[in-house]
Amino acid sequence: MNDRELLNLARDAAKNAYTPYSNFPVGAALECEDGSVFVGCNVENAAIGNTICAERVAITKAVSEGYRNFKRIAIYGDGQNYCMPCGTCRQFMIEFSDEIEVLSAKTGGRYVSYKLKDLLPRAFRF
Ligand code: THU
Repeated sequence: MNDRELLNLARDAAKNAYTPYSNFPVGAALECEDGSVFVGCNVENAAIGNTICAERVAITKAVSEGYRNFKRIAIYGDGQNYCMPCGTCRQFMIEFSDEIEVLSAKTGGRYVSYKLKDLLPRAFRF
């Protein structure tokens, strides 16, 4: 699967986002080493801190299905800025590999890509 196809899955996943508070739908598409893809969207909550980001939904779906080897994640947010993963999601992802490639897209589909280890240098580990 190429970058554009993975980004399209992320964009489609954003359609299921539950965002009555921010009105900012986000979609993520996580590609595993074997080519399997898990998608996620953000799910908000009246107790705002309970909100879960699209990336963590995709990762928890994958892990709960027995997948732990991740290659790339595409993130789509319909905004003027590239939709970069928040700090919590960076730490959540780096648990599994610091080599994950992160593709962050904005309205219109333009995107940037980074290695996760460059987005979270010296991550917490014990
Ligand atoms: N959000 C994500 O789903 N992923 C990110 O990488 C950044 C933020 C969500 C959380 C919240 O529902 C909305 O975007 C606004 O912060």
